[in-house]
Amino acid sequence: ATNRTFTMIKPDAVKNGHIGAILEKITASGFNIVAMKYTQLSKRDAEQFYAIHSERPFFGELVEFMTSGPIVAAILEKDNAVDDFRTLIGATNPEEAAEGTIRKLFATSIGENAVHGSDSDENAAIEGSFHFSGREIF
Ligand code: CMP
Repeated sequence: ATNRTFTMIKPDAVKNGHIGAILEKITASGFNIVAMKYTQLSKRDAEQFYAIHSERPFFGELVEFMTSGPIVAAILEKDNAVDDFRTLIGATNPEEAAEGTIRKLFATSIGENAVHGSDSDENAAIEGSFHFSGREIF
């Protein structure tokens, strides 16, 4: 297992002014930021990044939302990074997210849910390389 995961602070959380608070929670929880950028996904980027969801009824909405404004993309390092980060962010639906989790604190809805977290080591590696080249990872 690797000790890295990939995250995005999504357009809703950026618009609502939560970048600083979310990064603070991430680093206070023991994650080391090894790569980070402020960027905006094109439609093509989002369709490619979320290709696994292309048959879902919410795909169009997801692509629209994820391209609606800038995001913060980052690679995080910590022992057991994928699972520990998913615990820190909470359930996809903020109504089901545990108290104190990033989605409970900052998400507005199941679609506009503040942050992304990779769901496996394999996807963490794929998603990280989607956004970062080797020389952008420290
Ligand atoms: P994430 O797990 O980061 O990646 C897939 C995203 O699809 C998920 O976050 C949600 O933002 C979005 N999503 C999942 N289920 C729904 C839904 N029922 N309606 C709208 N968006 C959804």
